[in-house]
Amino acid sequence: MKTTQRVLELLEQNRGKAVSGEELAGIIGVSRNAVWKAIEDLRSTGIVIHAKTKRGYFLPDSDNSLSKEGIMTLLGSTSLKVDVRQTVTSTNDLLKQLAVNGEPAGYILIASEQTAGKGRFGRKFYSPNGSGLYISMLLRPDMKAEDSLFITTSAAVAVCRAIESVTGGRIRPMIKWVNDIFVNRKKVCGILTEAAVSFESGMLDYAVLGIGINITAPEGDFPEEIKDIATSLFGDMEQDNIRNRLAAELIRELEKLMADPLDKAYLEDYKRRQMLIDHDIIVIKNDQRRPARALGIDKRARLGVRYEDGSTETLISGEVSIKPKS
Ligand code: BTN
Repeated sequence: MKTTQRVLELLEQNRGKAVSGEELAGIIGVSRNAVWKAIEDLRSTGIVIHAKTKRGYFLPDSDNSLSKEGIMTLLGSTSLKVDVRQTVTSTNDLLKQLAVNGEPAGYILIASEQTAGKGRFGRKFYSPNGSGLYISMLLRPDMKAEDSLFITTSAAVAVCRAIESVTGGRIRPMIKWVNDIFVNRKKVCGILTEAAVSFESGMLDYAVLGIGINITAPEGDFPEEIKDIATSLFGDMEQDNIRNRLAAELIRELEKLMADPLDKAYLEDYKRRQMLIDHDIIVIKNDQRRPARALGIDKRARLGVRYEDGSTETLISGEVSIKPKS
């Protein structure tokens, strides 16, 4: 492990408490000068490290940088492989590439920023630096392609549980079928599952589950085109170490739920958190918009709807939106 990584790991393990350069150097087995250089390197990446005369260096509670060391300190042991990067094109795209090259299941790729973040239906996912969490997980479940809805919907539950856990229940997110997470009737998180299917068996070869969460307000606010529909969990309110805390909690939830994505125990929670049931909605299919009533979620996580002409349909995929009040 590099000296910078070891220094950050030790500072994370002692967050809020000063550790002297001498102590750090002794534990790592390098010179004090090497420690000082590592501190400067870490600072140059945006990590806030304070220094107290004669006491040493420390990470303030308020430092909100995202790092593997920060996440692993909170997570403790995990069977997953956690990889944290500063800027990537798209965590889903990179992980798909790793999957094609034979990477085993359980790889978690996290980025602080995405330059080509992708949403559903070929849309872009706004992924600015510093305010969000962009995370993808590689799965190789023994599962038919038609069951992949269970991955996406259980991930939505994992996100809600993680948000509730880090906020002590102060924020109660809702799910808009299939997998958008809403707070105060605006979207805070989107989920995109991309899968490769074996042509012969119809079974999943791999699935890449991608989750993007808006944690705090982005610098300069959301772009005009999404400003009315997107929000963040905390806006401008400062939250200590929130990105690492939310990442650790989400990884913990994903590890539990993705151990067996066909275990339907989560489904009751998924149903309970729905925001559209018994509401008037618009079903959007092939660019056509049809008013309907959302009836409920069935045991395969599909959404039942009734159209205005009285006909009903069970939706497997697609998009629904809240019907604007007329
Ligand atoms: C949507 O709302 O349409 C889905 C958004 C999914 C965004 C996440 S961010 C991490 C992963 N990488 C991507 O490029 N997209 C997903």
